Amino acid sequence: MRRLRVSLSVLVTVLLLELVTIATLSRWYAPSTSPPSAGSCSTPPQGKIHVLLLSSWRSGSSFLGQVFNQHPSVFYLMEPAWHVWKTLHMSGAQEVRMAVRDLLHQVLKCDLSVMDSYLPRQSKASKLFMWSHSRALCSPPLCSLTPPGAFSNQPQCEKRCVNGSLALAADACRNYSHVVLKTVRIFELESLYPLLRDPTLDLRIIHLVRDPRAVWRSRRSLGYDLVRDNGLVLQHSQVKGLEADYRVMEAICQSHVRIYQTLLLDPPDFLRGRYKMVRYEDVVDDPLGQVNAVYKFTGLNMTHQLHRWIYHTTHLSGSAKDPFETSSRNAKAVSRAWRTKLAHQQVRQVQQLCKGAMSLLGYRAVDSDKEQRQLDRDVLLPRELNQLSLESPRFSWLPSKTDKPFSEG
Ligand SMILES: *[C@@H]1O[C@H](CO)[C@@H](O)[C@H](O)[C@H]1NC(C)=O
Ligand SMILES: *[C@@H]1O[C@H](CO)[C@@H](O)[C@H](O)[C@H]1NC(C)=O
Ligand SMILES: *[C@@H]1O[C@H](CO)[C@@H](O)[C@H](O)[C@H]1NC(C)=O
Repeated sequence: MRRLRVSLSVLVTVLLLELVTIATLSRWYAPSTSPPSAGSCSTPPQGKIHVLLLSSWRSGSSFLGQVFNQHPSVFYLMEPAWHVWKTLHMSGAQEVRMAVRDLLHQVLKCDLSVMDSYLPRQSKASKLFMWSHSRALCSPPLCSLTPPGAFSNQPQCEKRCVNGSLALAADACRNYSHVVLKTVRIFELESLYPLLRDPTLDLRIIHLVRDPRAVWRSRRSLGYDLVRDNGLVLQHSQVKGLEADYRVMEAICQSHVRIYQTLLLDPPDFLRGRYKMVRYEDVVDDPLGQVNAVYKFTGLNMTHQLHRWIYHTTHLSGSAKDPFETSSRNAKAVSRAWRTKLAHQQVRQVQQLCKGAMSLLGYRAVDSDKEQRQLDRDVLLPRELNQLSLESPRFSWLPSKTDKPFSEG
């Protein structure tokens, strides 16, 4: 009798959990219907600008991240939402997405107290994920290692800057004109609407995408590193191995389609001028041009030092030690490697799963093994052409000159 009661209550709990999951799932896929809020007279502190660099695993975000990170006006953190997924790893991506959103919201405002949910009390800034890669956390007032304007040195920082407090990191954050956060843990734009409507934030979203076949190759060569993240993306479903990899790839491509549809079908006014899509392959082809455009979009000025660094890492081969540890010298070769390294069968499979995303983003499918290996057959459709066809009358990719730039409404 006792045993029966226990199993009954377990059964009821399981059923309830399933109902909650179904409800959450359907909300995840349903379009947001909340109306935009009215404007407000509050403004971001001292014209501060906030940037989210939305990317995906293995999509070449380290180069673009560094371009922000090493800029003297930028307080940059790489993937603070890692802590949410780490702490709540038994949940799925859908269930934790609002926790991710709220954490990004607070950190953009330099409120690091939100980390209390994910770190032991009174933690040092060096408990933040990949902290030593952030120039700002290796600079005064946290650490004397990196003088203002200098590039940071990650191995040195890791040794010498471990003692700065989170409170000091928050103070430092308030001192910069730009806060930039990179994340691979956002799969749609709707959850970011409260940030876009927050009158104390001036948010710009950079969405970095990459050819799914190149992402696939890069993910396959990484192995077990992505297992925990895959678990969350797939809601801990039982699929394993290659099949799980395909499912994650499909989820990533669906997120591109979903974001595009949000922008094209009925973009809310508060998104206008705040979203910019960047293709990794375009950055590889024209790094300076693309970085200049990204800086312009986010209100940053190019510095001589950064200009020199970008030129050197992308034009010269070999010798010089790379201060950013981001090897983009072979970027062109690496970005095409899938064409020689991947079996055509896998390429076909990825093309099938990512058909919609590829046609939206301007990546052409290859129809045969022969075509795949024919490197002079370009698979990248020109960006201008691509963008033109995606332009909707209600939505402009960049603020037009007649609009009050970056304001609501
Ligand atoms: C950090 O603080 C500890 C304890 O106060 C001290 O022993 C250590 O030398 C400090 N490390 C650095 C790099 O300043
Ligand atoms: C903020 O910047 C000012 C001027 O550059 C500097 O004097 C001050 O020490 C900085 N404060 C913090 C907390 O970084
Ligand atoms: C960028 O440069 C312009 C003109 O030189 C200057 O007015 C502006 O304040 C600079 N912006 C930042 C964020 O440094």
